[in-house]
Order: sequence, then structure tokens, then C-alpha cells
Amino acid sequence: MVEPSVVTKNGHYASEMLSQFRLLERLGNIYMEKIIVNGGNPLCGRVEISGSKNAALPIIYASVLVRGKCILENIPAISDIADSFEILRGIGAKIRLLDRTTYEVDCTNVGPGKSNYDLVRKIRGSYYLLGAEFGRFGRAKVGLPGGCNFGVRPIDQHIKGFEALGGKVNTEGGYVEIESQRGAEGNNIFFDVESVGATINVMIAAATAEGTTILDNAAKEPHVVDCANFLNTCGAKISGAGSDVIKIRGVKELHGCTYAIIPDMIEAGSFMVAAAATGGSVRIDNIIPKHLESITAKLEETGAEIEEFDDAVHVTANGKPRRTSVKTLPYPGFPTDMHPQMSALLCMADGVSYINESIFENRFRYVEELRRMGARIKVDGRIVVIEGGNPLTPAPVIATDLRGGMAVMIAALATEGKTEISDIHLIERGYDEVCAKFRALGADIEKITCPDPVEIKKAN
Ligand code: EPZ
Repeated sequence: MVEPSVVTKNGHYASEMLSQFRLLERLGNIYMEKIIVNGGNPLCGRVEISGSKNAALPIIYASVLVRGKCILENIPAISDIADSFEILRGIGAKIRLLDRTTYEVDCTNVGPGKSNYDLVRKIRGSYYLLGAEFGRFGRAKVGLPGGCNFGVRPIDQHIKGFEALGGKVNTEGGYVEIESQRGAEGNNIFFDVESVGATINVMIAAATAEGTTILDNAAKEPHVVDCANFLNTCGAKISGAGSDVIKIRGVKELHGCTYAIIPDMIEAGSFMVAAAATGGSVRIDNIIPKHLESITAKLEETGAEIEEFDDAVHVTANGKPRRTSVKTLPYPGFPTDMHPQMSALLCMADGVSYINESIFENRFRYVEELRRMGARIKVDGRIVVIEGGNPLTPAPVIATDLRGGMAVMIAALATEGKTEISDIHLIERGYDEVCAKFRALGADIEKITCPDPVEIKKAN
């Protein structure tokens, strides 16, 4: 591999600068960030929820359909969003930060098939670029997505939709490539599974297709509705989002708009569970109560008291949580993205609780981390069995994925003593200012940077 030349201003090759650069790079690799929690404090006070990651991602990529400027408000400051803006910049978009959560996105000069393979594979939501490029240019080429490791995360339903819209799809060499003779053409599609990603991706492609598209057995999540509302604000003609049949009448062109992203229902649910698990009393502001109905109902079953307002909920723990059983389902059922957090709460509940994970076949890696903290928890097929009630003990643990990371955070906040959490970048993919928000609720929690003993050994 040719080493990149580090050139001084008078043009000379500066090998000593390169060796310093390489040392810094090595040092960068040998430092790691951790979250330290001294748990046991009940969370009390108010927290403001950020914009929804899973609504912001599709809307950011859907802006590729627009030859003009979109102002996107209430965008969460998380790494999946930063990576997505980086991907769009790389294909010609102009992105301006107007304030901490507002961006101006101009995709006038965007071209297809140019996205950065390594950036794309960092996150799951990058697959929305496929629908956007196909919808705008009649062709697309994007690397296969990455995202949380829950076992195989197929995209066969996305491909089924693109092929129904007249795309010829090829998935070789780590890429998904879509070609078409005449651009996307409307059609009827019945999804074999309720897939959030496939529903949104095909809806994006169909927004400017020739003719009408009907999506049947569509996902009904609030972020599906939010993306449909964004597209309609840009001039699309989409109806039925939020039901299992979505009708999209293709339009020639979309125009720029200003759009505010909905609040993040999973962030809200995570703070609700944390309040209950720590025996606290927390008001959670900037939410849409309807989106949280299944979470509220399940928490009330465990004994938490929940008061609803127009755009807030107040969660008050009522002694030890009671045991319960949960089954994850597509919206409006109990969300799979709340399963790990619920497990952490039910570790505090006397009796045996069960969580049936019906959506992802392997969303259980966090269980091992809770066991390190003394939880009597195990996985039987797709059922998590939790014999709760015994106090957990602090231990060094890792974030196994985004929501698994939140599960160990909640367990640490509810456990007396000092717990260290590593691999916290996985938590910061989806939670904006998470330590600051918990600290404002009385948690003794901080993020530290420290040498990684494993990497130091390698570097020497
Ligand atoms: C989205 O993932 C979310 N990610 C996930 O949130 C969330 O857990 C999931 O929806 C379910 O709500 C983003 O929005 C970026 P799916 P996605 O397609 O689109 C199967 C988080 O923590 N399936 O609804 O990948 C699939 O295997 C993340 O924020 C196919 O079989 O989920 C799963 O069993 C984690 N073929 C089920 O459908 C396909 O082509 C639901 O997956 C697509 C999916």
C-alpha cells in the first residue's frame, strides 16, 4: 500500500511528519471511551426527547429526490445522522448546519452510484439511498448496509419492491445495483413481511415513479408516516401511510420544503423504563403519547404510574416493579427496539418474566452482559426468561448494540456501585447527549477517555 504523502508547504516529503501522523493514528486507536455509572440514585426531574433517528434517516435520504433545498428541523445529533450527511456530501449534496438540530440539505447536484462504500456499511439506514437514487435517476448503486448485529438482516423485500417498480437488481460484489429502461414505474406490491425499511424504501422510489403504486402489508410505524408526510410536503401524493395499505401516485418533480422530524419514541420509552427501574419520577417532554401507547400500557402492568399530557408523559415508580410478559410486534404492538430495556427493568421485578422477541431472530447479545451483573436471565429459543428480584451487582460490561447498550445503562443506573460500560459508540449511534440527559435527572454518570490495554499491547 502506498503510504499517503505528507507534504510540507514547500513541497518536500516530510517522513518525520508522517511517522508522527502514524503515531497519532496509533494513539487514536489505543484510546477508548467508556461510560462510568455510580448507580442507585432514583432518576427525578424532566428530560426533553430529541428527534427520531428512524424518521430522520429516511427523510435525509429521501431529500435526494428533491432538486432544491430542504430545511430539516429536530434532527438528533447522533453518529448515524452525521454519517448519513457525510454520505450525502460525498455524492454532491450541500449540507449546512443552521443550528444544533436544523440542517439545510441541497441535493440539486447529487449523482447516483457514488456513495462511499465504507461509510454506507457503517449503518443500516443507508439503504434508503437505494430508493432515492432509483426514484430520481432510474438507477442506483449503493454498498450493502450495516447496522446492529441481530443475525441476518435481509433486504429481499426491498429488492422485491424495486423489481416490481421495473428495476433490474443485481447484488454482487457487496453492492446493490438497480438498472431500469424507463425509470421507476408504478405497480402493486404485497410485502411478505411487515418491514419498516422496505416499506419506506419502496415508498421513496415510488414517489416520483411513472404511475401509481400500492404497497400492501406495509409497516405502520410512526417513522413510516413521518417520511410520507415529508414527501407530501415536497409535493408527493401519498395516502394511507400508517395503515397497512399505502397508495403512492407518482409525480414528476418534488420541490424543497421545511420539515420538522417527529420525536423519538424509543428514546422516550428508554427514559420511561429508566425512571421505573431506578424508582424515580421523571417527566418526559416533547413526545407524542399515541406513539408510546404499548410502552405505557406495559409499564403500567409492572406497577409504574403514568400521567399523560398533550406532549409529555410523567412516569413515577411505585415500589419494586411487578413481573410481566412481553411480546414484541410491529407497530402498534410493543416495539422490538424496547425489548432489551424492558429486560433490564424486569431484572428488578420479583418473579419470572418473559419477553418473546418475534421480530429479530438474534437480538439477545445484551443478555450475556446483564448476566455479568448477576441477572438471572437466559434465552430459550426466542424467549428471554428473567428470574428477577435479586439485586444486581456492578461489573465491567459492553454495549453489544444500540438498544443492548441502553439496557446495560439502565441496569447500571439502577444498581448500587460503579459500573463501567465500553463500546459506547454503539449507544451514541442513536441517543443524543445521553449522559448529559441522565445527569440532569440526578444520575452519577460520566464519559471518560482511557487507554485501551489491548491496543497498547498491540502498538508496542
Ligand atoms: C428498522 O430496521 C429500524 N432501523 C430498527 O431499529 C427496528 O428494530 C426495525 O425497523 C423494526 O422496527 C431503522 O429504521 C434504521 P424491518 P429494519 O425491515 O428496517 C425482516 C434501532 O434500534 N425483513 O422492519 O431493518 C427482518 O429480518 C434499530 O433503532 C426481511 O425478512 O427492520 C425482521 O425480521 C434496530 N426482509 C423484520 O423483517 C427484508 O427485506 C422487520 O425488519 C427486510 C426485513
